[in-house]
Amino acid sequence: MSAQPATQWWRDAVCYQVYVRSFADSNGDGVGDLDGIRGRLGYLADLGVDAVWITPFYRSPMADGGYDVADPRDVDPLFGDLEAFDALVHDAHERGIRIIIDLVPNHTSSQHRWFQEAVASPPGSPERARFHFRPGRGPDDSEPPNNWPSQFGGPAWHQAGAEGQREWYLHLFAPEQPDLNWHNPEVHADLEETLRFWLDRGADGFRIDVAHGMAKPAGLPDAEAAQQGLISDSGGDVRFDHDDVHEVHRLMRRVVDDYPDRVLLGEIWVRNDARFAMYLRPDELHLGFNFRLAEAPYGAEDMREAIEHSLHAVAEVGATPTWTLSNHDVTREVTRYGGGELGLRRARAMALVELALPGVIFVYNGEELGLANVELPDEALQDPVWERSGHTSRGRDGGRVPVPWDGDEPGFGFTTGRPWLPMPTEWSKLTVAAQLDEPRSTLSLYRRAIELRHEHRGFASALDWLPAPDGCFAYRRAGSSLVCMLNTSAEAVPLPAGEVLLSSAKLVDGLLPPDTAVWVA
Ligand code: GLC
Repeated sequence: MSAQPATQWWRDAVCYQVYVRSFADSNGDGVGDLDGIRGRLGYLADLGVDAVWITPFYRSPMADGGYDVADPRDVDPLFGDLEAFDALVHDAHERGIRIIIDLVPNHTSSQHRWFQEAVASPPGSPERARFHFRPGRGPDDSEPPNNWPSQFGGPAWHQAGAEGQREWYLHLFAPEQPDLNWHNPEVHADLEETLRFWLDRGADGFRIDVAHGMAKPAGLPDAEAAQQGLISDSGGDVRFDHDDVHEVHRLMRRVVDDYPDRVLLGEIWVRNDARFAMYLRPDELHLGFNFRLAEAPYGAEDMREAIEHSLHAVAEVGATPTWTLSNHDVTREVTRYGGGELGLRRARAMALVELALPGVIFVYNGEELGLANVELPDEALQDPVWERSGHTSRGRDGGRVPVPWDGDEPGFGFTTGRPWLPMPTEWSKLTVAAQLDEPRSTLSLYRRAIELRHEHRGFASALDWLPAPDGCFAYRRAGSSLVCMLNTSAEAVPLPAGEVLLSSAKLVDGLLPPDTAVWVA
């Protein structure tokens, strides 16, 4: 049975990313949870989002914030239980909000039953064959099997097993995240079971973690150009973007096609447009995160190039473009664009640029409040990157600080307890409550932009670039009267002709000031 989706509801959706630990805590333990999300669905509906992507809430020892999954078919008690998930899906659907959940197929947790069994079993056993166990190099096996680095620092190999049965196992991320062997049919079967488990419970789709990982080259050869960082350019990094990965995506697509209207969305850190497009062929993923916009330095020329690449990549396979300014893995854009007032002003301009683009928009929780990264004290840091890098990289916690909802004191309605990462006292000015009725707030800008975007739904995916002064760009969505213009120059410039619908900052004498974007119809 292969049912084509009846609608492609995601084609121009606004999707809100909930980093589950940091969104809303319902029980005062300082960590966000599923009931917390359910309690804030009204906020999400008012914001106008079509879907919510929730980061992993499965059973996990939390070595990597839940991306180390010990049981992919159960909810960790920290986040609730299966009933809480069902209730969330039910209530979200009543409000017309879809729920996309995370899937982590590249690796498990070292606490997963399979890995425990593998460690207790001898070399060559079927238990070890679900992972990548290898003898080491050097006279006494003391060197790892190859030179691959882990994304979080240090080698991608650790030793495990009883005396006399020790081998090295591969972990592209933390040692607590052993990589699964995707040439093993049991691994495929288990993924299918997980997919159906959540599809049957009403999940509307999956965000596939490290969708360019999973498949590893035969023989696990040494890397020539392996680098730290999540980026794989085609041909550069043997650890990622191996051709065999597409077989895994075809498997997932076959399963998901049994259920109408569900969507597969890959986290694809692949820069080469043609390689990127391969993930979005008609029998693979529906959508892929393109991170070009999040990676582009602030400036009209670089942003335009990022937009053109993102459009070009999907055009090759007739897929839908996606747009992301930030997520739980990258520095928040306010900080990237210079921080302070300037960073916020630029982030607001980029929000209008993004929300006028065709395709799927991802808003990372707190982005709509104009939150910046937080400078956290050393002792607060929890990202494994901090320890693994020998305290040379602070990791991603600065962009994961919980969302401030209301009140004057840290906790800010996120929790009645102590937040899992400290929240800055200055955030009292940035709470949802403080911004909601303030017409010039960043929250009001997002709400209005999303509302207008919905009114202008359903245009073709093409853009027409219009003439614009140096340091600026302007585009019109094909088939639409809406023009978006961005000014990153140091001078105010004339506006495009038409009625101003929305601007990211006040216009000055009828001109578009620096670091401002405008929508004109
Ligand atoms: C993805 C996640 C990231 C996680 C990594 C390992 O990149 O977004 O947060 O650390 O995969 O699962």
